Amino acid sequence: MKTPNMIDAKKRHQNKIEYTKYNIDLGNFGEGKKFFVRTYGCQMNEHDSEKIRGMLLSAGFIPCDDIMDADVIILNTCAIRENAHDKVFGFLGVLKHIKQSKDIIIGICGCMAQEEVVINEILNKYKQVDFVCGTHNLDNLLTILKEKIDTNKRQIEVLSYEGDVVENIPVLRESPYSAWVDIIYGCDKFCTYCIVPYTRGMQRSRKHEEIVNEVKELVNKGYKEVTLLGQNVNAYGKDIYDNYTLANLLSDVADTGIERLRFVTSHPWDFTDEMVDVIASRDNVMPYIHLPLQSGSNKILKLMNRRYTKEEYLKLYHQIRDKVKDSSITTDIIVGFPGETEEDFQETLDVVNECKFDGAFTFAFSPRENTPAAKMTDVVSEEIKMDRLHRLNEVVNKYSNEANQKLLNKTVKCLVTSLSEKDKNKVCGYTENMKLVNIVGDKSLIGKIVNVKITDTKSFSLDGEYVD
Ligand code: 5AD
Ligand code: SF4
Repeated sequence: MKTPNMIDAKKRHQNKIEYTKYNIDLGNFGEGKKFFVRTYGCQMNEHDSEKIRGMLLSAGFIPCDDIMDADVIILNTCAIRENAHDKVFGFLGVLKHIKQSKDIIIGICGCMAQEEVVINEILNKYKQVDFVCGTHNLDNLLTILKEKIDTNKRQIEVLSYEGDVVENIPVLRESPYSAWVDIIYGCDKFCTYCIVPYTRGMQRSRKHEEIVNEVKELVNKGYKEVTLLGQNVNAYGKDIYDNYTLANLLSDVADTGIERLRFVTSHPWDFTDEMVDVIASRDNVMPYIHLPLQSGSNKILKLMNRRYTKEEYLKLYHQIRDKVKDSSITTDIIVGFPGETEEDFQETLDVVNECKFDGAFTFAFSPRENTPAAKMTDVVSEEIKMDRLHRLNEVVNKYSNEANQKLLNKTVKCLVTSLSEKDKNKVCGYTENMKLVNIVGDKSLIGKIVNVKITDTKSFSLDGEYVD
């Protein structure tokens, strides 16, 4: 049994990172068994789940859509806020009931697996969990699962230090048109509220040749869109190259001829002029930037250790808006950080009023175990947090509505990704600047980039019709 330790998790450069290739072959030990994976959290987790599915498939397991059919159930978890925890622990209660009537194996992966307090809770209270595999040794999933099956003993294997950068992990991608590609793992920013630097470890970039080759393969398979992934993609390359940055990578990946190239998430501190120029000048780099603000108050930004001021954020924001044609910019904002006064909150509203974001993900501060912000004493009451969140959302929604209204009656290019869940006569797609459109049209459009005339707009989506 290997359990995590948050003090070790904070340390950097404890061991040299190796670049290795996945080489686990334990035979077809999953033959005849079905699996179900449920994902919580961000796109990095969604993509990790594609690797979990890929590895299980390589051992003979087959995927199923109904949890009641599954022999192996894996929860790929998120630790970013307390409510992500609550959802997982709640679902474990449901699985306990299923396990009483059926022989199933329950596994936990992802960021919650990296938390000392969660592992202690699982060891003491959640006996239904059969194995835990941390984020740093995800490539070892099959070994852990096989050990559980062979010995029938609970397996907990979570490392507190970063694992190697492992290439060629099998992937079962969810979409045949749009793919996620990791470019950098971990984060070294240590924003004081954030648990990610502890659960995902030190920043580790993949080699650029590996990334470009993966995208070339995707282009050959007919993929139309690639999203480059990292907790802070703008730091790409800093840990392994002297002179090769995200701007170089975007340019090299754009050269593969992929029709749409995206990247997420950016930290404003590492956003260079060269990056803005590449986004502005390359037709296949999409004009959509997610640029987390977190707060509009310099006092709070400092307490958050964000390393930029409101003025620097605004300068970058306007530079992007000026240079990148038809851009859309979204953001993340936290309200109720310790020490946030009504005046600080007003400053956040001022920045939102100036930027008129296309959209914003807004959150109430949630203290995370062992992060510096969790120890700050000047806490904001839940009532005030909720009130600020509500007021912020009203302003944010007003601007996303306005941004969407600008597209009314325009014809835009959409990559159609799926049938609409609500209406069988419609399909869904995304504009170049990442707006969701419900399109009148049939399933033959799925997988194509088509012209769509926008006929109606809402706060969070657009309606449109296919134009031949
Ligand atoms: N409390 C509230 N929101 C948080 N985020 C990260 N950590 C916390 C926390 N402890 C938000 C940030 C980040 C997004 C992914 O989640 O806004 O950008
Ligand atoms: Fe967390 Fe900050 Fe790193 Fe983003 S940049 S993952 S908010 S520590």
